[in-house]
Amino acid sequence: MKITDLGPRNGNHPRTFITLLFGTVLGFMFATFISSTTVRQPWLPEYYRQREPPSVVSDPHTGNELREASGPEQDVGQHAAHEEVHAHENASLAQQLEREVRILCWVMTNPSNHKKKALHVKRTWAGRCNKILFMSSVEDPLIDSVALPVSEGRNNLWAKTKAAFKYIYQHHLDDADWFLKADDDTYVIVENLRYMLYSYSPSHPIYFGCRFKPYVKQGYMSGGAGYVLSKEAVKRFVEDAIPNPICRQDGDGAEDVEMGKCMEAVKVLAGDSRDSVGRGRFFPFVPEHHLIPNHVDKDFWYLQYAYYKPDEGLDCCSDNAISFHYVSPNQMYVLDYLIYHLRPYGIVAHSQPLPKKLSLGDIVRVDDLGKTTTTTTKKSNQLHQHQRHKAANSHRGVAQAVDETRQDVTDPDTKANEPNT
Ligand SMILES: *[C@@H]1O[C@H](CO)[C@@H](O)[C@H](O)[C@H]1NC(C)=O
Repeated sequence: MKITDLGPRNGNHPRTFITLLFGTVLGFMFATFISSTTVRQPWLPEYYRQREPPSVVSDPHTGNELREASGPEQDVGQHAAHEEVHAHENASLAQQLEREVRILCWVMTNPSNHKKKALHVKRTWAGRCNKILFMSSVEDPLIDSVALPVSEGRNNLWAKTKAAFKYIYQHHLDDADWFLKADDDTYVIVENLRYMLYSYSPSHPIYFGCRFKPYVKQGYMSGGAGYVLSKEAVKRFVEDAIPNPICRQDGDGAEDVEMGKCMEAVKVLAGDSRDSVGRGRFFPFVPEHHLIPNHVDKDFWYLQYAYYKPDEGLDCCSDNAISFHYVSPNQMYVLDYLIYHLRPYGIVAHSQPLPKKLSLGDIVRVDDLGKTTTTTTKKSNQLHQHQRHKAANSHRGVAQAVDETRQDVTDPDTKANEPNT
């Protein structure tokens, strides 16, 4: 064999034996050292050695899980319009809708979240709104927040919502056609919101969001997924609802449920925000939650609350989805990258044609509307759900419209566990 020509044979040379022995002992000691300690890992930088299990789960279901989450100190920057993918983008349709479907976004925040959360909303999706307002109780140049005359805390969210819409009514009603409320952990794809709203008129008394079933006959919109009011809905809310005992007068209560009751009381319709094939567009959790089948228990509150039965897997979510909730500040930058930058080369998506404009009669029987007066009883305010549903879906497939007439409104389900949104 040739090997013998290359050097001394194994075992024949004393130096080889010593090297082997030394290596074995060293290896044994090293292995013992590693297995005897789980804390001392000197090859890891200090930070990783001290690292606790991740404090921010990828799919949070309560605000508490995100309480300590914050984003980067430093802005992540931008790609220039002439670079790579962006040089070949055609945003003319989105620009047209930016002019025709003007959206004021207001973000519910508070002083301890300005830097941790609101700043990252400002640096990501908020800039795509025609106008952005951060509603807080303290002015802060970091986010140009509005100091509303309310105290902070979960028990004041309803007071804050009323104060926010009053402020908008007084100062910014003519700056937009639609008025979106979002939280500082909501992520919004503003272009898709404009696309959905294009069919409707700001003079329609209507609002949209992730529709929940209990507590309010026509349902109400999840606060965390964000909801959008037409200009007419804002007028009715501020002029007719807020000063009226038909709406909760104190600042307490679940903000989104109280909003839903007020909207119904002044005959603002709970709109259907699903896309043309029935997939949802506003979501109370992150994409992972909605996408992954059997991801939560069958008795998880969302499944009882959802107005339209949620689908699992890719059927969950519209290709033109509008919002997700419990998005951590870091994830806002990730979503921004995935949605506005990352592209599979060679696949060019052209926008679907604009949908037709709907008249109010398409959406609801005209005699259901008309402003409520202070003498109107709650009973007479109740909407004719079936007619509305049929009309609202006349532009959809027949199968879906039929399916929807089965989706009757249930009575307020007071037994359901209150979600911690
Ligand atoms: C951009 O898209 C619009 C339609 O959305 C089209 O009319 C226009 O010609 C396109 N512009 C270019 C430069 O391709």
